[in-house]
Amino acid sequence: MQVKISPSILSADFADIGAAISRLERAGADLIHCDVMDGSFVVPITFGAQMVAAIRSRTALPLDVHLMVEHPQTHIKSFAEAGADIICVHFEACKKISASYLKDTLALIRSFGVKCGVVVNPDTDVESVFGVLPLCDMLLVMSVFPGYGGQKFMPQTLKNVEKARAFAESEGLAGLDISIDGGITPQNAAEAVAAGANVLVAGSAVFKSQDMAATIAALRS
Ligand code: DX5
Ligand code: ZN
Repeated sequence: MQVKISPSILSADFADIGAAISRLERAGADLIHCDVMDGSFVVPITFGAQMVAAIRSRTALPLDVHLMVEHPQTHIKSFAEAGADIICVHFEACKKISASYLKDTLALIRSFGVKCGVVVNPDTDVESVFGVLPLCDMLLVMSVFPGYGGQKFMPQTLKNVEKARAFAESEGLAGLDISIDGGITPQNAAEAVAAGANVLVAGSAVFKSQDMAATIAALRS
């Protein structure tokens, strides 16, 4: 299984985002993970579609947009138009609105020609989203509670990765990317991959390292 690295720009210098994008490209990133936080679904506020459009203008790498927002449907059009390649929405934000909201949101993302995905928090059993995985291009398993970079990896979340990989294999979902996000480092990357993740999101590990290319290579191997 080919492992892809999706560095999170949450740990980048926001005053010089163009330079951060160029560094990631040179260092061998496969995707760029954009953490959108609304101050309600999670406490912090990061950035919105305007930032994603600005990043889009600087790179051809796929932009992997992680929406940590309430009422995600409200925002799909603006992020699609900003140039997102994949948009992932939280199961937990959708389920409090209605039973069909998640499915409808995935269809809405697809209607813009954008790939779609669902995210589960550490305290959500991934089985809750099995019903929609055939409609998804990506499953994003949180290995920390969303909201902040630099948190400690929660090993108990690997269970969600293992269960999802087994389900994807049994259902023949060969195109489903299983991504893991939060506290990923060169030290625990192998465990995440062994559990079945093929996309690794890493913020602090990449941006706080002295040698970004070496860190990305270490994550990949
Ligand atoms: C957490 C974000 C993550 C985070 C990853 O809410 O979704 O993408 O930035 O950062 P690290 O790798 O520092 O945990
Ligand atoms: Zn994220």
